[in-house]
Amino acid sequence: MKAIVFEKVKSSKNLVLREVPKPIPQDHDVLVRIHAASVNALDYRPMQMGIGMPKSRIFGADIVGTVESVGGQVSTFKPGDMVVGDISDNGCGGFAEYVAVAEDALVLKPEVISDELAAAVPVAAVTALQALRDKGDIKPGMNVLIYGAGGGVGTYAVQLASYFGAHVTAVCSARNTELVRSLGASEVIDYKLEDITTSNRHFDRIIAINGHHPLSAYKRILAPDGMLVMVGGSLKQILTALFFGSLLSLVGNRKIRTLAAKPNVRDLEFVLELVASGKLRPVIDRRYPLEETAEAMQYVSEGHAQGKVVITIGSN
Ligand SMILES: NC(=O)c1ccc[n+]([C@@H]2O[C@H](COP(=O)([O-])OP(=O)(O)OC[C@H]3O[C@@H](n4cnc5c(N)ncnc54)[C@H](OP(=O)(O)O)[C@@H]3O)[C@@H](O)[C@H]2O)c1
Repeated sequence: MKAIVFEKVKSSKNLVLREVPKPIPQDHDVLVRIHAASVNALDYRPMQMGIGMPKSRIFGADIVGTVESVGGQVSTFKPGDMVVGDISDNGCGGFAEYVAVAEDALVLKPEVISDELAAAVPVAAVTALQALRDKGDIKPGMNVLIYGAGGGVGTYAVQLASYFGAHVTAVCSARNTELVRSLGASEVIDYKLEDITTSNRHFDRIIAINGHHPLSAYKRILAPDGMLVMVGGSLKQILTALFFGSLLSLVGNRKIRTLAAKPNVRDLEFVLELVASGKLRPVIDRRYPLEETAEAMQYVSEGHAQGKVVITIGSN
């Protein structure tokens, strides 16, 4: 089968299309013929940092495809089922024609959702859900700031915050203003024109997804009893939140929490159901064929994708 393989070579292009053996499903595995995948930071970050990189690594966490065959102990799926999953806990492998993955990483794809739209859902939408609902304990009527609203996680966070009944203020650049408003933000701030962290505004929840402000700046615009949920941004910012967040939370009632999103099939089913019923809209910026996955990864890693970037691999 064809796969995009990471190879340690001196040239800057180290993601290459290779012919590799088709995986063989183990007892609890499902062999999926992949139709589409999408790019996430967890795909390109390890490569950029050069850490934890096994030889011949195949990236790709978000997958959509058809079940080709199943292992002897598989009870949930049968050949022909259309499935979706975040397979990051199974070693990834989505930028390929086939992957063998544990059945408990997958859910059935609602028929009404296209392959490309479904591929844009798992990591980004579940991250936004866990940030708002689980870490953020979001409630109707809250004033919520989504900082860095234009990307994969941000476009879902705006919609989910609005779905949960919050009043949403979103921060993005001018090119994303109309999009983010159409997703449910009541107010949109262009970060190039205005620094919200120096304003007199106060928010019950701040979901920090992209952008680079010190924790003290976010804390300044938290309402009393407010909470900052750190999702992404600069490495320094995330590490500070991770190591000093609880310490800083001790001063006053304002809390700082750091999200480490986890693949969760129930959460995935929840967001897919919202997509199927038209309450959540995956935003796709670009589509690349499998052969151009390196270009897709490069584009997303530059940090200005508008929503998600999808890799198209085959059709059903
Ligand atoms: N904690 C977790 O468990 C978890 C899980 C998933 C992802 N993450 C992290 O979450 C972050 C976002 O992921 P993603 O997939 O949504 O990334 P993404 O799609 O690459 O984000 C791109 C977006 O970021 C916006 N952006 C860039 N610089 C900005 C700035 N200074 N201020 C405001 N917005 C800015 C861009 O908007 P403009 O073009 O308008 O600048 C673009 O729309 C990443 O850091 C990722 O590592 C964390």
